[in-house]
Amino acid sequence: MTSSPKPSSAPARGRFITFEGIDGAGKSTHIQYVVELLRARGLAVVLTREPGGTPAAEALREVMLQTSMTAQAEVLVAFAARADHVSTVIQPALAAGHWVVSDRFTDSTFAYQGGGRGVDWNWLKALEVQVQGDCHPDLTLWFDLPAEVAAQRRAAARAADRFEQEDRDFFDAVRAGYRRRMDETPRRFILIDAENSVEEIKKQLENYFASY
Ligand code: TYD
Repeated sequence: MTSSPKPSSAPARGRFITFEGIDGAGKSTHIQYVVELLRARGLAVVLTREPGGTPAAEALREVMLQTSMTAQAEVLVAFAARADHVSTVIQPALAAGHWVVSDRFTDSTFAYQGGGRGVDWNWLKALEVQVQGDCHPDLTLWFDLPAEVAAQRRAAARAADRFEQEDRDFFDAVRAGYRRRMDETPRRFILIDAENSVEEIKKQLENYFASY
């Protein structure tokens, strides 16, 4: 039996772009800029975030950011939120031909819970497959900077959540988690030196997206 061909009117799948980095790296400033660049090209862009992006996932975000729990519980809350987010927002949007830009995704779980809290990397990989199937980012922008610099930036910002209150060693370990993740799938990663000025980073993003 042959499978029936897709109707020719089906839109091409959109692209899935994620923004990552330790707290204080400045990714939130730049995510807005990238969404504007893409919308200016006439693309339909869904801007979302993790944990979050659906009513249930936003409720889980509150729990995760404000309530103390074990590292394994953090992982399961993050993936519970992600399960709802992937199946009700991300996959339908991509299938409709929209581009999805997410402020954090699964690399955050590998970096914060795997790197920062020391949760078993292979368990995270197993959950990733079970929860997401073949839903993976096409492109990940990693805003990288030393934990020390990020801490200075955070000190000038608003009230800290549970993760932002962690010490420098924790953020060094989170950073190492991101590095390990990039080493495992280097082709989808773009490394942004977040110590550069906002203007320099904007220029770098503009150049990159001119041909993406
Ligand atoms: P963040 O995205 O930085 O939001 P805001 O800019 O409002 O502070 O905060 C989310 C926090 O959740 C951040 O400290 C990282 C953490 N986090 C995890 O620990 N694991 C995860 O899987 C995700 C998605 C986030």
